Amino acid sequence: MPENHVFDVLVIGSGASGLSLALRVASRAKVAVLSKNKLSSGSTSWAQGGIAAVLHNRDTMESHIEDTMNAGAGLCHRDAVSFMVERGPAAINWLTEQGVHFTTREEIDGRDSFVEKEYHLTQEGGHSFRRVIHAADATGKAIQSSLEDKARAHPNITLFENHMAVDLVSNKNPDPKKRKCIGAYVLDTRHGRVETFRAKMTVLATGGASRVYLYTSNPDGSTGDGIALAWRFGCRVANMEFNQFHPTCLYHPEARTFLLTEALRGEGAYLRLPNGRRFMDKFDPRAELAPRDIVARAIDHEMKRLGSQSVFLDITHKEPAFIKGHFPTIYERCLKLGYDLTKEPIPVVPAAHYTCGGVMTDLHGRTDVNNLYAIGEVTHTGLHGANRMASNSLLECVVMAEAAANDLLSRLGQEKISGDIKPWDESRVTDSDEEVVVTHNWDELRHFMWDYVGIVRTTRRLQRAARRIDMLSGEIREYYSSFRVTPDLLELRNLVTVADLIVRSALRRQESRGLHYTLDFPETDPTMDGVDTILKPARRPVAR
Ligand code: FUM
Repeated sequence: MPENHVFDVLVIGSGASGLSLALRVASRAKVAVLSKNKLSSGSTSWAQGGIAAVLHNRDTMESHIEDTMNAGAGLCHRDAVSFMVERGPAAINWLTEQGVHFTTREEIDGRDSFVEKEYHLTQEGGHSFRRVIHAADATGKAIQSSLEDKARAHPNITLFENHMAVDLVSNKNPDPKKRKCIGAYVLDTRHGRVETFRAKMTVLATGGASRVYLYTSNPDGSTGDGIALAWRFGCRVANMEFNQFHPTCLYHPEARTFLLTEALRGEGAYLRLPNGRRFMDKFDPRAELAPRDIVARAIDHEMKRLGSQSVFLDITHKEPAFIKGHFPTIYERCLKLGYDLTKEPIPVVPAAHYTCGGVMTDLHGRTDVNNLYAIGEVTHTGLHGANRMASNSLLECVVMAEAAANDLLSRLGQEKISGDIKPWDESRVTDSDEEVVVTHNWDELRHFMWDYVGIVRTTRRLQRAARRIDMLSGEIREYYSSFRVTPDLLELRNLVTVADLIVRSALRRQESRGLHYTLDFPETDPTMDGVDTILKPARRPVAR
């Protein structure tokens, strides 16, 4: 018999946001944390660069705020930006209290002058000051493992690995104001059965959707699950057209795409064409340290102009000890693949990296539906605007986890666990005999999203993508209602929903701004400053 679980708080997702929230509420609530694979298999563990925060006594909150606003190209919400930036130093303190060890000046080289306390602060695109605190070049891993250790040891936190949310469940109140989330159907992926989780409060912390593209710096699980769950549940989403492509991912014909952190450029690396020439100064006076949208587009432009398969990232003018000291993980990884970072330029290409839009929340993490919160990359809070500035995302995870935790705790006492959720109905489905449909549709979707909805868009390509999405959506709906659910099918169902939201948002924005660049409307329309693309679900979803 599938199990029926009951908790005060259900957290879907186990990266920096989900675990931070769980740890913040666990002294007063019984918490379940779901992870569809291992706890550490989300994007947090893959984050290299660091966390942006004002930690140097010559840096200012105003400067961090203005840099973020500038990178966001007219769409950041100033209140959200100030909220995150002002809470940055406290967020870093909290992480160190959880045991996260950030790299110190002594550990790294002692020669940098931009240091405060004992921490080494690095530089990334769009920042006018060194303000990125980091754990060498594996910051996310350090954060994930400390938070995981704390969560595993906490008596009030139960961790469910290999558990993937299928759909959220509501109290079915016809009055939208009284409608609330009471839990979720969840697939235990190892046993193939759907269980119910009831909770007073549910939190989406599922990360982004970059796997909707063929090439991505993200782990396999970045399939937009939370965005699709919330959309099907009746929540609005915003700014889904702003998909960030990280400019420098390793290009290797056989190896899977992996990130070469922007901190490499922050510490002096150059971008070069295949003939060895630098080119970024043609595109922006900040050259290699321009915001990501500009650098990625410049690389895309040069690769298309020259018909080349990559450009090159070159840090060979720095001492080998400096390179190995600052970037030990990347150095080793490249070496295994046959590239010596200290001796040769490394071939790089842009790849999908971050979903700037998402489920709309306020600055308490509340979504449109009562008792459903969302935090981290799954959301649109207004922080990132049309282009997220480097290293603001982990900041958002930790700050919003605290904000949502406080709000949720203040309301927990007034809530009761709902009555039973009706068991998952499998009476009309069978085991699939056509898994190939799922695999094929996965591949097709990611290919045409890359080709038609990538760094440079046109209306015709977007319309072409929209037609294919319609067709795939129909097939997937039919498949979903006929066969037992599997993780691949659930992810595909979520991805096609997210692809649809991206394309519809991109078609609606008839201008170029930040990460959304279209040849049909190449200019930024000043009348669209501050205008988000908000999509509202047309009707309430029906359970299967
Ligand atoms: O380049 C990087 O290390 C990525 C940082 C980020 O996406 O914030």
